[in-house]
Amino acid sequence: MSISDDFIQELKYKNDISDVIAGYVHLKRKGKNLLGLCPFHTEKTPSFYIYPSSSSFYCFGCGAGGDVITFIRLIEKLDYVEALKFLCDRAGMQLPIGQGDDKVHKKKILTYEINREAARFFHKNLCDEKNKNVLEYLLKRGLKVKTIKHFGLGYAVNSRFSLINYLKNKGYKENDIVDANLGFRTRNGSVCDRFFDRVMFPIIDLRGNVIAFGGRIIGDGKPKYLNTSDTIVFKKSTNLFALNFAKTETNGQIILAEGYMDVIALHQAGFQNTVATLGTALTEEQAKIISRYANEVIISYDADEAGQKAASRAINIFRNIGVNVRVITIPKGKDPDEFMKTYGDEGPTRFRKIIEDSKNDIEYRLQKIKSDYNLNRPDEKVKYLTKAAKILAELDNSIEQEIYASKLSAEIGIEKSSMMIQIEKYKKYKNRKDETQYFKDVVNKTLAFDDKVNPDKKDNLRASVAEEALISYMMNNQDRAPNILEKVSEDMFITVFNRKIYNIIKKLYEENREFDITNISSQGLSVDEIGKVTKIFCGYVPSSGTNEALEEYISVMKQEKYKQKVNDVKDMDALDIKEYIERLKAIKK
Ligand code: CTP
Ligand code: MN
Repeated sequence: MSISDDFIQELKYKNDISDVIAGYVHLKRKGKNLLGLCPFHTEKTPSFYIYPSSSSFYCFGCGAGGDVITFIRLIEKLDYVEALKFLCDRAGMQLPIGQGDDKVHKKKILTYEINREAARFFHKNLCDEKNKNVLEYLLKRGLKVKTIKHFGLGYAVNSRFSLINYLKNKGYKENDIVDANLGFRTRNGSVCDRFFDRVMFPIIDLRGNVIAFGGRIIGDGKPKYLNTSDTIVFKKSTNLFALNFAKTETNGQIILAEGYMDVIALHQAGFQNTVATLGTALTEEQAKIISRYANEVIISYDADEAGQKAASRAINIFRNIGVNVRVITIPKGKDPDEFMKTYGDEGPTRFRKIIEDSKNDIEYRLQKIKSDYNLNRPDEKVKYLTKAAKILAELDNSIEQEIYASKLSAEIGIEKSSMMIQIEKYKKYKNRKDETQYFKDVVNKTLAFDDKVNPDKKDNLRASVAEEALISYMMNNQDRAPNILEKVSEDMFITVFNRKIYNIIKKLYEENREFDITNISSQGLSVDEIGKVTKIFCGYVPSSGTNEALEEYISVMKQEKYKQKVNDVKDMDALDIKEYIERLKAIKK
């Protein structure tokens, strides 16, 4: 990647890190810095900091960190060049011509292209007179032609080589088609269509790229749906069906349905704020994406047991990230698609009424457990109340707790205070659990037991702390670099990761470039590694800028290296030792 430092500087200048992040995270000022809830992991107390002075961010909870480019890479799930492009668009800048030609990026662009061609091909098939039975199937299911066009629905014909031949004629290579998961290689080496005789639902990302397909069998048969597996441009756990349409229609509210057909039927009925997961249970990542566009989610899952179980799981996920949840139950066990078809013109009004009458998640859960007990029997009453108290104890909001406690006690005919006592009991237990987890995290982090980026750290704590302090010192005092680089050599580093960073700094220095987070990150570091460098940079700044501190770091590194050598020697026999000493002498020279 050879975009000039000047260009990157301008890009960063025009995309002020605080402004950019404020588009995703609610921030509060804390001294010179900004603080908010980390968008990369679940937390209730903020530990996500933005440091405007160094144009960086760092989360003390999960270790994510870096500059504005890294932030965009992480939050938008983009590679480096795509993130640059994203920020260029945001700032009205143009990425220099000929750039963006790195391998991963090229492959992604190619995969998008292949997917788009396939979507066009499938759609054309559906419009073909020869396949009018498929169009009729969709029309009979209540879809309008306009809706079919809007969603770009298509048909993969009943042949094994139809798409493959079409794409190959357009010049695409078999391997790339297989990698896009539109074909698969058979045992005799030829490549076959992955989808045939299916209605095709293209899945489109937030930037309008076709990234995958769902294919439904026509009529009955198994498997009912066949979906694209994960590819270089698609991960089913981080994408949502129809969010590309829904994101601008939310008004703060998103409807989460279960299937493609439900989403399409609801959009057609005027509920364009509907999305669905892609054949799997809701993930935390998907919930977080939804939370960027809405603060309330209406879950509209199937009324069967599986659907209700999935709803309970989803409720917990949304609650944990502070999204309000309501759950709707469609009468007579119908899914939204069947509902709309049954009620025709009346459907939208009736559905709106169901939304209005829907219960929030707590009411929903209380009602669900209530149906498990026979409240005419005292012992069952007790069980019900105990379980209800447990649910209410999970609420962070004590006003909410009071309200439901009042309702419940009135309903069962007990004192509200008894209910509250039981809730408090569970709350204490829960807090104790939270606290234990908190300290567990702190201890693990401090002692570096889970430092995946620098696995050497846990066995070389003293050395790696000194190494990190030295790296931070160099980044913060670039004028002193010549002096330090003279005193410190790469073999003084014990941990491989810190040595790597030292070498990057040295290289940047030799190229006469600044060694800030941006330039260091662009030397092929992973986002986890960038997070770690940011932690090092931000973590040691304030008190440690003195000359004595510097001498201290170097001295600790030397001591630790010496200790390591002694340890090395301990287990050697005489001959080994002799050879070892020779080696040391050679290094000294
Ligand atoms: N699904 C899947 N693979 C299957 C079955 C279901 O990926 N074998 C996913 C699809 O995304 C589907 C969703 O789960 O849309 C819900 O499944 P289901 O309710 O069975 O299908 P519907 O969407 O209701 O489709 P239809 O109305 O056409 O039966
Ligand atoms: Mn259905």
